[in-house]
Amino acid sequence: MTVHFIGAGPGAADLITVRGRDLLAASPVCLYAGSLVPTELLAHCPPGVHLVNTAPLSLEDIVAEMRAAHAQGQDVARLHSGDLSIWSAMGEQLRCLRELGIPYSVTPGVPAFSAAAAALEAELTLPGSCQSVVLTRTSGRASSMPSGETLAAFAATGAVLAIHLSVHVAEQVQAELLAHYGADCPAAIVWRASWPDELVVRTRVGGIAAAAQANALQRSALILVGRTLSQQDFGLSRLYANDYDRRYRPRGDEPRFPAGQEGG
Ligand SMILES: C[S@@+](CC[C@H](N)C(=O)[O-])C[C@H]1O[C@@H](n2cnc3c(N)ncnc32)[C@H](O)[C@@H]1O
Repeated sequence: MTVHFIGAGPGAADLITVRGRDLLAASPVCLYAGSLVPTELLAHCPPGVHLVNTAPLSLEDIVAEMRAAHAQGQDVARLHSGDLSIWSAMGEQLRCLRELGIPYSVTPGVPAFSAAAAALEAELTLPGSCQSVVLTRTSGRASSMPSGETLAAFAATGAVLAIHLSVHVAEQVQAELLAHYGADCPAAIVWRASWPDELVVRTRVGGIAAAAQANALQRSALILVGRTLSQQDFGLSRLYANDYDRRYRPRGDEPRFPAGQEGG
């Protein structure tokens, strides 16, 4: 018996991984975070599945469901939106399972920021422009931010920011970013990325608050900020440069990795 934690993806039902779908199909118990996980995914569950929407449950209730399945030797598919490595509350569930000696596995999913970048048709890291993406949020009712992790501190690096759980404080986000990026820096708000009703609003840092207000954007939205969101004047990557000597395409009189030779 295993509790399989599965990243359900950002919303579109076909953005779950093949492994995640197969685990879902093989598990007689499914616990899903009903607030964000698309219900179409539940069609992959086997007939007679014991389905539980965990949105109204406490951690104790959720672990009680896992314990009951464990006692009956039944595998559990535990679905969380996006990927499990960010804001999934998986950590606290794993800790309980470790203490109880209940086996588990972790299957990643497509995170919302990837779906938002796809909706924007943007490579967030462009040569010579930006090479870092910060996944962050602002303080919420349930979680405060550690003192060093302010938007201003991340903004000072010039990295692309993917700001989660914050569209309701868009005005505050805009105010914190202005001094670092300037009002003209490209920004976007992507609401329900990959869902059928996805909405993409392209704007500038100086227009974030107005864009959120004009479109009445609430919850399930990401604010992205950074030059690379709409940049065209970036350099070429060396990876595909014709004269770049690399393992899979040796170049020059003395290639670093001669053909047929595996190198470090
Ligand atoms: C609790 S976090 C979950 C993040 C998730 N684990 C992930 O990997 O993306 C919820 C926040 O993620 C963002 N989010 C989740 N799904 C989204 C989507 N389809 N489109 C845009 N933002 C989304 C929103 O900022 C939302 O407030």
